[in-house]
Amino acid sequence: MSYDRDLAFEYHNPTKVIFGENSIKEIGLEVESLGGSKALVVTDRGIKEAGLAEKVEKALGRRYVATFDQCIPDSGFHLVDEGASFALEKGADILVSVGGGSVIDTAKGMAMVMKEGGKLSDYRGIQVLNRPQTPHIVVPTTAGSGSEVTWFAVIKDWERNVKEAFVDVYLIPNKAILDPTMVAGLPPHLTAGPGMDSLSHAVEAIHSLQRQPIIDGMALQAARLIMEFLPRCVEKGDDLVARGQQQLAAAMAGIAFGNSQPGLVHAMAHPVGALYNVPHGVANAILLPHVMNFNMNECADRYALLARAMNLDVRSLSDEEAAGAAVEAVQDLVKRIGLPQKLREVDVPEEGLAEAADYSLADGSIVYNPRLVTDREEVLEVYRAAW
Ligand SMILES: [Fe+2]
Repeated sequence: MSYDRDLAFEYHNPTKVIFGENSIKEIGLEVESLGGSKALVVTDRGIKEAGLAEKVEKALGRRYVATFDQCIPDSGFHLVDEGASFALEKGADILVSVGGGSVIDTAKGMAMVMKEGGKLSDYRGIQVLNRPQTPHIVVPTTAGSGSEVTWFAVIKDWERNVKEAFVDVYLIPNKAILDPTMVAGLPPHLTAGPGMDSLSHAVEAIHSLQRQPIIDGMALQAARLIMEFLPRCVEKGDDLVARGQQQLAAAMAGIAFGNSQPGLVHAMAHPVGALYNVPHGVANAILLPHVMNFNMNECADRYALLARAMNLDVRSLSDEEAAGAAVEAVQDLVKRIGLPQKLREVDVPEEGLAEAADYSLADGSIVYNPRLVTDREEVLEVYRAAW
């Protein structure tokens, strides 16, 4: 756990977080304080049908101009360009994304294209922007991606069938409104998957090569809350206390991995999502315990901290034993909330694992994993264990 004198890090999170039941009512003032007067809502059809987008449109009142409701899972380069043109046509000067990770990431891309012009594909890479983008307020309707507080936008290039990460401090949303009533109606499968995404963010922050003390605090607290409240959210969707705590956990885990960066769990989940359309949170849920086992020799002491944060009784155990208990607790959680535990259950073919391993090795997240991974066989071994 201890850090040495060579500890050096940056911590950055500019997002204002507004939390509370019915806090969505504050959105008009929050728009104005960012200098916005024409807000475009970015969402998807499902959220629109559930009446959530309308709730935000009403709360925006006179600052509302239009809604772009074409978002799809994993987003798309073409979609971001289309959304940005639509927003400019409507004269929008601020974006309000209402949705899960894909919607939020679509809006991040739109904010960039609206400000800088051109197409999304002009801004590939890491930290290519040099000024603030179109203001963006996020109203998450799932609790998991943490995208409301991160500098990542993961958008699928449907032509090449890969998920691409845009990474830039100017993509971090200005504000996040966490209102438990906006997630209370989520069905179990849209609760469990994103919930496990958030736990993966917390664990990846804890084992990251870029780990640091401020982030440890957030990630461990996030893990504590997720273990306690995620099952409650799945079992009783309208439990607003549990929903609120899980929303906060997702945001904290988001800040955590946004600063310390994701690792092998995400490097392996991205190709499984891009190649076989496995939802991101489900892929993470399946892979997380196997990656923890793979990393065990490098960070048993940190997984032991995780076990304590998760309220496991590990007082008489060594770090290695406590770390093993943390892995088991993650597996038990996945089972309890009804998610699949094997890649074969979500139709990933065994013969596709080698291609997925190749993509993993090229994923930017892999460099932050505590155990150095350079060999395709090593990644394949983890995939096989999870298959
Ligand atoms: Fe994630």
